[in-house]
Amino acid sequence: MLPKINPSQTKSWSLLKEHASQLQKTHMRELFAADPLRFGKFSTRFEDFLFDYSKNLLQPETLNLLRGLAAECELKEAIEAMFRGDTINETENRAVLHTALRNFSGKPVYVDGKDVMPDVKAVQEKMEAFCQQVHSGEWKGYTGKPIRYVVNIGIGGSDLGPVMVTEALKPYAREGIETFFVSNVDGTHIAETLKKVNSQETLFLIASKTFTTQETMTNAHTARNWFLDKAGNEEHIKKHFVALSTNEAAVTEFGIDPANMFVFWDWVGGRYSLWSAIGLSIALGIGYDNFKKLLEGAYAADRHFRESDFESNIPVLMALIGIWYTNFMDAHTEAILPYDQYLHRFAAYLQQGNMESNGKRTARDGEPVNYETGPVIWGEPGTNGQHAFYQLIHQGTRLIPCDFIAPAISHNLIGDHHQKLLANFFAQSEALMNGKTAEEVRDELEKAGKAAGEIVRLLPFKVFEGNRPSNSILVKEITPYTLGSLIAFYEHKIFVQGLIWNIYSFDQWGVELGKQLAGKILPELQGPDPVNSHDSSTNGLITAYKKMRN
Ligand code: F6P
Repeated sequence: MLPKINPSQTKSWSLLKEHASQLQKTHMRELFAADPLRFGKFSTRFEDFLFDYSKNLLQPETLNLLRGLAAECELKEAIEAMFRGDTINETENRAVLHTALRNFSGKPVYVDGKDVMPDVKAVQEKMEAFCQQVHSGEWKGYTGKPIRYVVNIGIGGSDLGPVMVTEALKPYAREGIETFFVSNVDGTHIAETLKKVNSQETLFLIASKTFTTQETMTNAHTARNWFLDKAGNEEHIKKHFVALSTNEAAVTEFGIDPANMFVFWDWVGGRYSLWSAIGLSIALGIGYDNFKKLLEGAYAADRHFRESDFESNIPVLMALIGIWYTNFMDAHTEAILPYDQYLHRFAAYLQQGNMESNGKRTARDGEPVNYETGPVIWGEPGTNGQHAFYQLIHQGTRLIPCDFIAPAISHNLIGDHHQKLLANFFAQSEALMNGKTAEEVRDELEKAGKAAGEIVRLLPFKVFEGNRPSNSILVKEITPYTLGSLIAFYEHKIFVQGLIWNIYSFDQWGVELGKQLAGKILPELQGPDPVNSHDSSTNGLITAYKKMRN
């Protein structure tokens, strides 16, 4: 059980409110000018990571107060409760143990008195053996050819993590295997994918925790029909269809041989499942050894999170800084800005991780919260984002805390590309923090030979207020191991914030209503008759659609 503490009723919360009103009058430029050691004081290292949080509008006192808030909300005990396997996902009556999937401590982890580690290891061994069979060519398709194409069919957590990691670790991709991901129920997604593969050399991974998700089951049936059309015999399905799921009955019902099923458990949340059997597409794409390194990197971050004090604990710092802006500085969103093209799906992945976890308004005691919770997460890789939305971050009216993420070493050393990329990475956080004063703009315009009148006219548009906060995460290189750590940092950040916001981060009831209504509407789309069972807008839209399609 997690505590039910309203953070806004704590002493630290009131102190933070007061502190924020004072600090809001301060500019980070002044903080840097006043303390030449600021970077050293507000940055920390972990293995190949440097986490610099000095370009935030905070002082040592801010962090003390935030840590006080964490203590009042009983964070330390909650972390232990999660790792221990307590039923902290109380609305679904489940433990939250994605950390057990990367537990290399050799120690047991208990759920309801049963050590889950033997089952975890057994599935990992099965995944490893399967990868070995596929990669060696021992696993053959129905015409005797080895597997060349892997198509993962899944959505949400059964898609976003595997896609993000597969893209991020492309330099580690195994030759001879091409990986595809189909998620959208829009038939275009599977249609376009099936054009690129052939039935004889394709392995379909049906990835669904519940094995009931409409999108996934629809795509899975389409893939099955397509396959049977070509292969002509249901007997061949077992060579080409594999299930990643917790629901053995539904897998069998679909026609997948239970021997081809890789299981996981209800204590693995969908958006935290890339470490489980759901990661089979990753393991097939980059090799099991690299998948294991991903788990090892996450395990290292788990230990860091569980064992280090909150002063140098990266996920805790990330979480507290986020709370500072969300609850005391009126920020509503957070931008995730990786300066690494391989991380181009990282923000999309974190959108589910963060927003499905902490987009909640009911506190753990069942009452509505009286403070802000999860921010809107968004972002794109740099430098592309610079030419799209950075204008608003620099000069807009909203405060947007940013996470800049960059590897020191690129997998593609071509000319000076990487130095140019990193010059932008360093420049953006500096520009956001410093801004450009009216004096600096005037000086610049004078040097450019502008007339006095022109300077007065242009000056207000060219001023950058600055004081825009960011974290910089510099990592030596994106490898399976460091990526594992990076993902785990964000997972734990989300946990810490949910704990402090007094919400349940590991359920997702908010996605149900739309699903229910879609289920009701689907049969109404049959036939030409107008629909009258909804509000006038929904009736009008459905009826217009029926007319249009004819
Ligand atoms: O979007 C809701 C959700 O339940 C997610 O939490 C989950 O990751 C996704 O659907 C897919 O669910 P499943 O793996 O059961 O198909």
